[in-house]
Amino acid sequence: NNYVLIMAGGVGSRFWPKSRNTFPKQFIDILGIGKSLLQLTYHRFLKLCPVENIFIVTNSQYEGIILEQLPGIAASQLICEPSRNNTAPCIAYASFKLKGLNPKANIVVAPSDHFILYEDIFLSKINKALGFTEKQEALVTLGISPRRPDTGYGYIKYEHKNTDEIHKVIQFKEKPTLEKAREFLAEGNYVWNAGIFIWKVGSILKALEKYANEIHTLFTKGIDLYNTDAERSFIDEHYPTSPNISIDYAIMEQADNVYTIPSDFGWSDLGTWASLYEAVPKDKQNNVISAKNIHIEDTHNSIIHINSDKMAVLKGLDGFIVVDEGNALLIYPKKEEQSIKEIVKTMSTEY
Ligand code: GDD
Ligand code: MG
Repeated sequence: NNYVLIMAGGVGSRFWPKSRNTFPKQFIDILGIGKSLLQLTYHRFLKLCPVENIFIVTNSQYEGIILEQLPGIAASQLICEPSRNNTAPCIAYASFKLKGLNPKANIVVAPSDHFILYEDIFLSKINKALGFTEKQEALVTLGISPRRPDTGYGYIKYEHKNTDEIHKVIQFKEKPTLEKAREFLAEGNYVWNAGIFIWKVGSILKALEKYANEIHTLFTKGIDLYNTDAERSFIDEHYPTSPNISIDYAIMEQADNVYTIPSDFGWSDLGTWASLYEAVPKDKQNNVISAKNIHIEDTHNSIIHINSDKMAVLKGLDGFIVVDEGNALLIYPKKEEQSIKEIVKTMSTEY
């Protein structure tokens, strides 16, 4: 009954200009190891369940890229959204479809853009979670020991009652302010939400009904149409009218049956330039540099990525992101990188 649902429909806007609307970062070989982040994710899960139980949910726009990158995936394993409404409707739609295929489905919902170093530990935690959700109506998320007061993550406060690996969540706070994130770190019993969820299809649908009723009602209207020829036209008409909200705000912050497994498996969310910076080796000046022709002086704690033959000359930078990629140039303070997302939203699609 185990299934995997990989979410691959984000635009990765905090990774602009490497990640673009037309070719987001999950499809890019960001680490330069010969596989895109999506391919790495897919291969990781092949060790967990048969390939026919792996589904990819994405925007219709990326259908071709995914079928090309994952030749083992059939078109019927792609769940396509006609519009961008964030992860709550994406998970709701996919859950209704999976329920039609197997009402007992026990599902791992995973992002497509993370790096995981210790795959064996990762898979053992996932198996532990699947065993737990099989037996009870629980929403489980993997928790990562926080390394810095990063405002891009969900923060989970959990009960330290037992020595067991699975703990009841007391509070889930998505993307707190810097001040709050610092408080959480000082307080201690917090983990970051890895954004990898485990639950039975019935449990997440029940939670959606309770906490995101508008979304649940919308997708319930198509209940007899999923996995039939009539599904496409129903989804094309109704999906875009769904509220635009992430699963973290819609469900994880609200539900009272959330559990976490604190786990450390060399996890890194390659969500932003600074998270890539954290994940890779740095030079003596604490810089991460990838450039063909560069002259650099008195520059520290920076990420320099010049993807062209241009001669780049840099001096006196501290804590900056400098990215020259195609028709775009980004020069931005690393500590303000979360706001790149807002700027990208205002740009025309040619960028
Ligand atoms: N299919 C589909 N449709 N996928 C989507 C959509 C959508 O509309 N929006 C985002 N995704 C995919 C992204 O491609 C990514 O793989 C995953 O869903 C999560 O979306 P992000 O946009 O990367 O979320 P986030 O990084 O801001 O926050 C989430 O992940 C953090 C850990 O990396 C949250 O779950 C946080 O709580 C968590 O800490
Ligand atoms: Mg992310």
